[in-house]
Amino acid sequence: MSEILNGNRLVMGTCYYPEHWPERLWKEDLQRMLDTGIEVIRVAEFAWSKVEPTEGNFTFTFWDHFLDLAEEVGMKVIFCTPTATPPAWLTEKYPEVLNADIQGNLYRHGTRRHYNYNSPVYRELCARITEKFASHYGRRKCIIGWQIDNELNCEKDVFYSESDTKAFRVFLKKKYETLDALNEAWGTVFWNQTYTDWEEIFVPRYTYSGSVNPHEVLDYIRFISDSVRSFARLQSDIVRIYCKPGDFITTNGLFDHIDNHKMTRESLDFYTYDSYPDFAFCLDMYTDKPGELRDRKWSRNLSEVRAISPIFGIMEQQSGACGWNTRLEAPTPRPGQITLWTLQSIAHGADYISYFRWRTCTFGTEMYWHGILDYSGRDNRRIREIRQVHEKMEAISEVAGGIYQARVGVLKDYDNIWDVEIDHWHQRVDSVSQKAIYAAAQKTHTPLDYVYLTDSIKTEDLAKYQVLFYPHATIMTEQRSRLLEEYVGNGGTLVIGCRSGYKDETGKCVMEKLPGWMAALTGTDIPEYSFIAPDAGRVTVEWDGSTFEAAVFTDLLEAAGENAQVKGVYTSDYYAGTPALVCNSFGRGQAWYYGSAFTEEAAKIFLEKLGVAETYHDIVKAPLDCEVAVRRKENTDYLFLLNYGKESAFVTLHKEGTDLYTGEKVSGRIELPGYGTLVVKL
Ligand code: GAL
Repeated sequence: MSEILNGNRLVMGTCYYPEHWPERLWKEDLQRMLDTGIEVIRVAEFAWSKVEPTEGNFTFTFWDHFLDLAEEVGMKVIFCTPTATPPAWLTEKYPEVLNADIQGNLYRHGTRRHYNYNSPVYRELCARITEKFASHYGRRKCIIGWQIDNELNCEKDVFYSESDTKAFRVFLKKKYETLDALNEAWGTVFWNQTYTDWEEIFVPRYTYSGSVNPHEVLDYIRFISDSVRSFARLQSDIVRIYCKPGDFITTNGLFDHIDNHKMTRESLDFYTYDSYPDFAFCLDMYTDKPGELRDRKWSRNLSEVRAISPIFGIMEQQSGACGWNTRLEAPTPRPGQITLWTLQSIAHGADYISYFRWRTCTFGTEMYWHGILDYSGRDNRRIREIRQVHEKMEAISEVAGGIYQARVGVLKDYDNIWDVEIDHWHQRVDSVSQKAIYAAAQKTHTPLDYVYLTDSIKTEDLAKYQVLFYPHATIMTEQRSRLLEEYVGNGGTLVIGCRSGYKDETGKCVMEKLPGWMAALTGTDIPEYSFIAPDAGRVTVEWDGSTFEAAVFTDLLEAAGENAQVKGVYTSDYYAGTPALVCNSFGRGQAWYYGSAFTEEAAKIFLEKLGVAETYHDIVKAPLDCEVAVRRKENTDYLFLLNYGKESAFVTLHKEGTDLYTGEKVSGRIELPGYGTLVVKL
């Protein structure tokens, strides 16, 4: 049985870099970690040269020595393959292993993740170093699991090296078999792009407008995902041969252009995530406008990880201020925030929390990326808080293995996620709706899951959700539409938004009446549509006494079929009075087609009118600033209340429960101090 994520207890860890510190500090560091409650460390993810300092010359003394010490003090270790940072000797001798920009310029040594996944030389050298690591260290008592590489597709998620072009051709030959089929799928007759030889095909190249055939780009992203998966598989297959029974294999991060579901199924035991919620306060994309979710938005990322692994680990949990010497800046967590963010991770399904990093590095690109300890290593406020977090984790440890409870889901699939990147209009509607639906769910205390329509998903996986949103199911296939029909037919409620069903799997528009494959299910016809022009003013929708704003786009609807009813209309512009919302009774359930993108206001009205808002209203009343989450284990519910605000918040428990931090019974009005958390066993 694995030492972490085994459903028995919560475990605390940290990321340690013995190669950054004089050996005299190691023992004291490990001992201090244990005294803090840290029982696992992750090591070696960037330490290739410590084992292969020059080509083909292997030495194991550094890690042998360190692992001896870990064993001596009783520290458990997650060991990594070091392939995120190839050594200088390697990239100089074999420049073909390097990734390149779209103009073919190679990314050189000096940073990290500058390799490509398809270079045969790199794959061979990675397989060799993985084999050396795994065969030499695989039986080590202190090692409990393995991390493959580090943050696959972080920093760069596009690849333009020569090896990528060669591998792309192989991928396409396998997929299409003939050039005729490829030309047809990519619509190459448009602008005279027809290919007459496989050698004429490249990964996307520099064009004056940045525009490349969209159907090619969709396949290119699928190709990147396949490349990452096969790279992870190459390593996990080797590690599995040598690791001890019960030791796990994982990888960390959550980055674009990867079918994480397939990768996890093929190569990993579970997924781990790196959570830095403070970015909410510093990156342009996470502005701190009133009403923004700020660090609470990280719950959205955690929900994405949960969609891959219902129980997961946090390999890197923020413990200090963040920043490179060249970019990025995020403030030091305020007193209480390390606890809050740790509990946020646990509330969403994390049973392992590992802080990044034990000591702040005094040199290099990340010398401003703070860990638990500052440069001097002396005790500080943050380590004192982490000791208290450990006490809390011990007190609530029985939640381990509990499953996050949601009655509402948002459906996703990789075709549409990747089409969003390529298609400006899809991007515009999707970014608005995804953000709005998540925010509306958070602010109405409606726990929400992301549910991926993978090849292996079954109707039972959908049946547990009362309501499923599929905001903009632009690319639709027959198989997916049948699955949705089964879900609704068996009593589910499906809500889809504008721009649905108009593309096939190649990303080409279909010639059927819209919404294509979903016409029967939604009982909707879409004879006309338009994006909301800048001079259209405020376009609103009226639904049963509620009026709210349409966003970005309007599908002008007609109810089609005897079970379809118009529920809402547009109230402005030339289409005032035209249906904006159609509800179709289908089997025992309902399918709703909403002709626009979802604003937060619209999403909230949907949650309320469909009777799923404030899921736990009979148990708890919480203010806006607090997140409500429930994990369930063997019929026991554990309620998490998280206050993201600086000020005290008051929650009211309508049902008596046990405050797991104190073991005391609680009910009625309870004060949560600023950044305060509470876990109640119901
Ligand atoms: C993560 C990465 C770590 C470290 C950290 C701070 O993305 O896995 O190696 O770089 O961020 O930048």
